Amino acid sequence: MKKYNKILVAFDGSDLSVKALNEAIAMAKENEAMEIDVVTALNPTAQISSAVVYASILNELRKEAVDLLKGISEKLDVQLPNHKVKTMVLEGNPGNEIVKYADDHDRNLIIMGSRGLNGLREWFLGSVSHAVLQRSHCPVLIIK
Ligand SMILES: Nc1ncnc2c1ncn2[C@@H]1O[C@H](COP(=O)(O)OP(=O)(O)OP(=O)(O)O)[C@@H](O)[C@H]1O
Ligand SMILES: [Mg+2]
Repeated sequence: MKKYNKILVAFDGSDLSVKALNEAIAMAKENEAMEIDVVTALNPTAQISSAVVYASILNELRKEAVDLLKGISEKLDVQLPNHKVKTMVLEGNPGNEIVKYADDHDRNLIIMGSRGLNGLREWFLGSVSHAVLQRSHCPVLIIK
């Protein structure tokens, strides 16, 4: 597993994404050369007609995402003080943005949950994990 040393964790705050992050941390503890990037993608709906409402919703979402990742950043600093870690807020379609980030930042493994915040249990995979599995150019570890 040591060859998977540039990890991307896709994080939406769901229990399974926390589990995915914890898996990445456990792997990193056995490999001091491992780098972990944690990303969360905002996807404000494009259908909001008023630009003012859109801007205020976008601002609110940005603030929430930054807060969410701040907590993660603190956790990573405590758990992995000697590893290279990074958190990032992305904007746009989550599946596309996650794959693009992995490509642009040379990631060799993506770790994510099978389901996320929308927890409908009929399908095993949510739409974001499905999209990433279909389009990614590196292996994907799906946590369930
Ligand atoms: N906005 C996001 N940013 C980063 N990672 C995400 C985001 N949304 C989902 N993920 C990742 O994808 C995993 C699966 O979530 P996904 O959104 O596909 O399922 P869901 O929320 O149950 O269903 P839905 O397709 O309705 O959103 C999550 O555990 C998380 O790792
Ligand atoms: Mg979701």
